[in-house]
Amino acid sequence: MNVDNFRLQIGGKEYVPIIIGGMGVNISTTELAVAAAKLGGIGHISDAIAGYVCDRIFNTSFISRKRKKYAEYSNNPDKSAVQFDLEEVAAAQKKYIEYTMAKKTGSGAIYLNCMEKLTMNNSIPTLKVRLTAAMDAGIDGLTLAAGLNLRTLDLIEDHPRFRDVKIGIIISSVRALAIFLKRASRLNRLPDYIVVEGPLAGGHLGFGPADWHTFDLKTIFLEVLAFLKKEGVSIPVIPAGGIFTGTDAVDYLQLGAAGVQVATRFTISKEAGLPAEVKQNYINAKEEDIVVNMASTTGYPMRMLTSSPTLRYAIKPNCEGLGYLLENGGKCTYIDEYYEALAARKAGEPLVIKEKTCLCTGMANYDCWTCGHTTYRLKETTNQLPNGKWQLPTAEDIFLDYQFSSDHTITLPKPEVSGTTRLNL
Ligand SMILES: Cc1cc2nc3c(=O)[nH]c(=O)nc-3n(C[C@H](O)[C@H](O)[C@H](O)COP(=O)(O)O)c2cc1C
Repeated sequence: MNVDNFRLQIGGKEYVPIIIGGMGVNISTTELAVAAAKLGGIGHISDAIAGYVCDRIFNTSFISRKRKKYAEYSNNPDKSAVQFDLEEVAAAQKKYIEYTMAKKTGSGAIYLNCMEKLTMNNSIPTLKVRLTAAMDAGIDGLTLAAGLNLRTLDLIEDHPRFRDVKIGIIISSVRALAIFLKRASRLNRLPDYIVVEGPLAGGHLGFGPADWHTFDLKTIFLEVLAFLKKEGVSIPVIPAGGIFTGTDAVDYLQLGAAGVQVATRFTISKEAGLPAEVKQNYINAKEEDIVVNMASTTGYPMRMLTSSPTLRYAIKPNCEGLGYLLENGGKCTYIDEYYEALAARKAGEPLVIKEKTCLCTGMANYDCWTCGHTTYRLKETTNQLPNGKWQLPTAEDIFLDYQFSSDHTITLPKPEVSGTTRLNL
């Protein structure tokens, strides 16, 4: 039995039941999403700071324009005036998504991971613009993430694609799902799929900082299935977090999952956006190098490598150009801590920031090495090269391994230099 014995049905279409989860900022790249769609699965791009992603891909200057406009605030802890121009947000979003969708081939789909918690110092209008522009640009689906998304559907109910674009929600508890469904049913627009994300996932976790480790994906997943059955609603349910082999995926598919969402295995793919040397750090990570901490300014716990450069940041807040995590009113716990540390510093001492990190800068610069719990197992999935480095598999290598492997075996990528490559078996 392997994953290929199953098919995922969403909105009358059939897919290989493998979804590559969204990973911002630009870790789940256009190329990664396109690879999943080509193989008949579903890939995600993330709209975390699309303007910045556009500047990297197309050499546009969305961020430098914003930075210039708000330069006078760079030494001012009050960032309330530092806002995004909604037309610029829409233009960047459209440009990035049109570019991605134009590259799509195959029978799969490309969805957008859209995080509610990306508040951009103007949460509701910016979220509305992001979602609207994504639909205008032809995205196949919207995966609503990082938040309860209580009012998100209301923001787009007048859009002509509201009933045709696929809409999914990521939740980590039946409670969060029940609240979302109540609102959705009022609009007569239930989600087309539900991603149940457990505590082993990468990125932010939808659990409390003290008790995240007391939860487990299988229990929540079964609770969600039971809840939907009790409510008499049939919506595809997709577990995520810690599904490391094709066999792990089959276990869920046999329990009634419609598909699985995976990410960590793909962080080291050639197509993923992390720099090549950072991918080597991911593969070399040991279990004790992976922690869940509260360094994120969002208030949610986040999993990352202890070696993440962002954990040692003492940089000036970078809100004038970036600032996509600024809460309404220009609030951010890193700004508070930075200016408190600055005021308390004695002459000649280095500035030390202990609790929070400038996550906008950390994520944009690939300095926050967020990862799933299973990252320490990535060395089981590829070949070590004679120089001690690791071969980076392609997204196709990883996808096909998920799709066709059985008995917890992992098919390693074909060695790049045959004869000289030492296999890591
Ligand atoms: C590097 C990384 C970045 C992530 N970033 C996001 C994100 O921006 N938004 C989100 O909703 N989920 C994010 N996730 C969660 C994944 O989309 C996915 O649901 C989860 O990690 C799947 O579990 P796995 O990594 O154990 O396979 C991220 C995961 C990783 C590994």
